[in-house]
Amino acid sequence: MNVILLGSGNTATALAKLMIQHEHRVVQVWSRSFANAQTLAGETGAEAIRSLSQITADADLCVLAVSDDAVADIAAQLHLRKSVLVHTAGSVSIDVLKNASLNYGVLYPLQSLRKEATSLPGIPFLTDGNTNEVKVMLYDFAKQLSGKVAFADDDQRLHMHLAAVMVSNFTNHLYAVTELFCKEHQLPFSMLLPLIQNVAGRLEDGNAFDLQTGPARRNDAATIQKHLDLLKNNEQLYQLYQTITNSILQMYHKKEELRL
Ligand SMILES: NC(=O)c1ccc[n+]([C@@H]2O[C@H](COP(=O)([O-])OP(=O)(O)OC[C@H]3O[C@@H](n4cnc5c(N)ncnc54)[C@H](OP(=O)(O)O)[C@@H]3O)[C@@H](O)[C@H]2O)c1
Repeated sequence: MNVILLGSGNTATALAKLMIQHEHRVVQVWSRSFANAQTLAGETGAEAIRSLSQITADADLCVLAVSDDAVADIAAQLHLRKSVLVHTAGSVSIDVLKNASLNYGVLYPLQSLRKEATSLPGIPFLTDGNTNEVKVMLYDFAKQLSGKVAFADDDQRLHMHLAAVMVSNFTNHLYAVTELFCKEHQLPFSMLLPLIQNVAGRLEDGNAFDLQTGPARRNDAATIQKHLDLLKNNEQLYQLYQTITNSILQMYHKKEELRL
């Protein structure tokens, strides 16, 4: 397929690499900053364009991969006929594209994407389309790019976006505050990497509920108290520790919340 990219950030760059790996062609790149469009166009063998009015009418697919709050603004400036227009956002309605093209949909990559990454991670996709024909076309296209593809309407995609925030952004935040805690106590955070990888990796073989371990899972009040004592001067970690401990106690021991 011939593809136009609108945007040149993490998502546009990762999708460009993935599409090229699967022998699709990036024909044009537009970005708010022309220099950024030129960089991505240079990497993908495409033409960089300065204005949305220069978009070719011949492309099969036009990927609008800009920040969530800019999707509607850019869509309002598009009037495509042949190309299927997609956005890539988890929490933006498909309807924002309805006046921008006859054929439109969503190609939402369910992955944390960074343009600096040297290799592409596996990227599951959630797809949607405004007609059955577009739904099938985008599903099939995503299937070429990935082993994991599912159809999702706005509501399903928004729920999955929330789920992605929980397992990715929230866990990373826990890593970040723990990294600081380790620094403060001259402990090497890198010693925790095998543990992090093991716990995430074993989800392939079981469900998260059954795999839970730790003091709260064992209802070990003495250890929990020792940990909370260590955190007395660290308000942020104290609250996180307490909130998550309470959630685990509720799930496995139906206990009243800790009041410490
Ligand atoms: N990154 C991820 O992990 C990920 C995963 C799934 C879905 N998504 C979705 O993919 C979309 C793009 O995200 P991203 O991660 O690629 O963001 P990003 O790396 O921050 O890049 C943002 C892009 O949007 C452009 N932009 C920002 N504000 C704009 C405005 N007001 N008008 C026009 N263009 C504007 C930027 O253009 P310039 O750089 O030229 O200024 C840049 O090309 C979002 O809808 C996001 O929800 C991201």
